[in-house]
Amino acid sequence: MRTPFIVGNWKMFTTPAEAADLAADVSRRLNGILGIEVALAVPYTSLAAVGPTLRGTGIELGAQDLHWEDQGPYTGAISHAMLEALGCRYVLVGHSERREHFGETDHQVNLKVRAAIRGGLRPILCAGEKEGDRNAGRTRAVLRRQIDRALEGIPAGSLGHVTVAYEPVWAVGTGRAASPGDAADAHQTIRRQLERIFSREASRSVRVLYGGSVTPDNVQGFSGEPEVDGVLVGGASLKASDFVRIVQGGWARRPIVG
Ligand code: PGA
Repeated sequence: MRTPFIVGNWKMFTTPAEAADLAADVSRRLNGILGIEVALAVPYTSLAAVGPTLRGTGIELGAQDLHWEDQGPYTGAISHAMLEALGCRYVLVGHSERREHFGETDHQVNLKVRAAIRGGLRPILCAGEKEGDRNAGRTRAVLRRQIDRALEGIPAGSLGHVTVAYEPVWAVGTGRAASPGDAADAHQTIRRQLERIFSREASRSVRVLYGGSVTPDNVQGFSGEPEVDGVLVGGASLKASDFVRIVQGGWARRPIVG
């Protein structure tokens, strides 16, 4: 059984006070929704403020990145243990903005997935093709490569703790979402690759989310695709009413799929 999963990614927005207010607003509006899991990936500096706000609401706390070592001389970096201590359950890994602006490689993404699992966190692994790859017909090849490399050395037994977010780079923050059909096609590629590396059973335990310009107006297209287990929402997660409309307008209406 895969429980639908909606994740907000607040990126580099909100001070701790703003973040606590936004989290309180989201949880008030959602008011204990059933059958769907919701998580908020907030800036590091807001984790301590948002954690207590979310406690007991059923909404999970997430971070947007982590370092791959347990500790060490890595000025400015944050370890899995630091996130865990602040109550994080989820952590984004390999977001396209990290790959693009911070030069994160597939190898580093793999080390981060391993570190997250080692530390008891649940990684949300982001993968997606750039526009040039798509135009050149390389979408599937890129996805297969990213999945292969990111999950190298991960035991099949840990796969159930991994979520994959398909985020075509050209759709992130651009207002140009993928079509639900294209997303479903990419999700199938991802799931088949998981099946190839692990097993059919293990691959079916992994939730695959779509991300990239999801809004309250287009979410139903994605929730209508059985391959899409939820969404990763950036811009629209910064407004509580929009984010809650996405949660309520999508999977809340759909029975949980197995
Ligand atoms: P967007 O971002 O919804 O603003 O396109 C998605 C993401 O970065 O996860």
